[in-house]
Amino acid sequence: MRTDYCGQLRSGNIGETVTLCGWVDRRRDHGGVVFLDLRDRTGIVQIVSDPERTPESYKIADTIRNEFVVRITGRVSRRPEESLNPKLPTGEVEIYADNIELLNGLGKQLPFQVSTAESEPVREELRLKYRYLDLRRDRMTRNLQLRHEVVKAMRRFLEDQEKFIEVETPILTRSTPEGARDYLVPSRVNPGEWFALPQSPQLFKQLLMVSGFDRYYQIARCFRDEDLRADRQPEFTQLDMEMSFMSQEEILDLNERLIAHIFKTIKGIDLPRPFPRLTYQEAMDRYGSDRPDTRFGMELADVSDVVKDCGFKVFSGAVKSGGIVKILPVPGGNEAISNVQIKPGGDLFKEASEAGAKGLAYIRVKENGKIDTIGAIKDNLNDEQKAEILKRTDAKAGDLLLFGAGDIATVNKTLDRLRLVIGERLGLIDRDQINLLWITDFPMFEWNADEKRLEALHHPFTAPHPDDIEDVKTARAQAYDMVLNGTEIGGGSLRIYQRDIQEKVFDAIGLSSEEAYGKFGFLLEAFEYGTPPHGGIAYGLDRLVMLLSGEESIRDVIAFPKTQQARCLLTNAPSGVDGKQLKELQVASTYKPKKSQS
Ligand code: AMO
Repeated sequence: MRTDYCGQLRSGNIGETVTLCGWVDRRRDHGGVVFLDLRDRTGIVQIVSDPERTPESYKIADTIRNEFVVRITGRVSRRPEESLNPKLPTGEVEIYADNIELLNGLGKQLPFQVSTAESEPVREELRLKYRYLDLRRDRMTRNLQLRHEVVKAMRRFLEDQEKFIEVETPILTRSTPEGARDYLVPSRVNPGEWFALPQSPQLFKQLLMVSGFDRYYQIARCFRDEDLRADRQPEFTQLDMEMSFMSQEEILDLNERLIAHIFKTIKGIDLPRPFPRLTYQEAMDRYGSDRPDTRFGMELADVSDVVKDCGFKVFSGAVKSGGIVKILPVPGGNEAISNVQIKPGGDLFKEASEAGAKGLAYIRVKENGKIDTIGAIKDNLNDEQKAEILKRTDAKAGDLLLFGAGDIATVNKTLDRLRLVIGERLGLIDRDQINLLWITDFPMFEWNADEKRLEALHHPFTAPHPDDIEDVKTARAQAYDMVLNGTEIGGGSLRIYQRDIQEKVFDAIGLSSEEAYGKFGFLLEAFEYGTPPHGGIAYGLDRLVMLLSGEESIRDVIAFPKTQQARCLLTNAPSGVDGKQLKELQVASTYKPKKSQS
């Protein structure tokens, strides 16, 4: 049917007769000469047809419209000097069409111009509804190609260099302990019983270690019914890995080499290794976040001890009730940020209050270490305290210091959010930097205030740090996350493989032996039959590809994603089903649509 792809023709092909197939990206008529941009998944090449040189094809060329499917045969020639196009990879050549065969036209009017050459940006809803047309466009074609290349690089490294094998694990399974809501599937054959779609292959990959597979990986689809964001989808893909007989250091080293291999293959970049590491505690102290964007400074400073006895009640009160006072320094913030923005009603105040802060105290640093504030702070800080604050924040004249005071979690959340928003607005983030780092030593548990109990931060099979085994409740976990430019791209841990430690952990989260056996009995039983020490990690493939492609949403690197409302606009899923189907499943919906107001 064809000899070549459109986007691959170069000056080396001049003189060859080629046959190409594809879609007409654009058709232009220049004084009787028809130019067609022919597009396939590799790119675009210019086709020329005129009544004198190619009379046969001209008759057809004249009738062709955008997005018609055609097959073209002709000779590759050099473009005339004035029409060379250095922006296009095929910009040195054009093809005089001896023959144009119309393979298919359009039955309907296009919902948007597919050609990106001149078209306006298209609304995302429209792009998603007609995703197959959107995928014809350059941006999405490139993103999906890149995604494919990333997976290929992963497979080559893991299979060829590191002897991993890919094993598929079930999609219809039991609930897994990743902490989001499950997607459930009713069983027709076992009425009243339900499968859960896997939130990750966690339990199966651990079982594979018991089976002796040693080095497992899978490009695994995961399902989580959680609130969606730009970097979260209800179904997403992980590169999932599990390894036996490896220390945490060996696992981190192998993973650094994997990521370095991907960056080298995809971007041609040599990443410096070892990757920097921050403990969870350091990350929270310095950035207020366990996934800090370290491409810019603005590190937080804890001044709780400095202000604990000062007369400003918001500060001293926060410290006295077990909270903290921290500062976010904004270099040059005096000019860049106005009081209106920080005070109630202002945009930065709004950011802070959405993170839970009640107010946003500030200091403006003037020449000679003088400070300017909203009244109460200035009058209630003595010179020594002021000097110490300037020293801790390394503040210079012109800087703005924003305060967070209250419980630790809210202060960190507020200042982290402000740091990212302000860093972005002030242009402090260097887009060309690639900052990869490990966050290690997570706590084993976090306090669930609603349910008044400890909860596994990662999942209940994460191993505690051997030095902290005496009191697992306050122990650090042997868990690690990989962070790329402020996005968590992967996370994993060493697992518990000794029964007594597993029981301590279940105990800490208030799970009785019976409950634990009820949930994960099959895994705990398997662990009785000779379990090797093991650990693993999973990467969010969509997130990694999003960052590598420079996109801002994982929807742009997934062929058929869901919207923020967890809908597929193309197929219009989810949808109602036939009453007959529900009856067979012995399932009835209790949902009652709200009566409309009108
Ligand atoms: P975790 O829950 O941290 O670990 O998930 C691993 C990585 O998956 C990505 N990710 C997501 N990507 C898109 N949409 C989502 N809804 C979503 N949720 C998570 C993130 C995250 O870092 N079983 C463990 C791994 C292990 O311990 O080996 C797990 O799933 O990039």
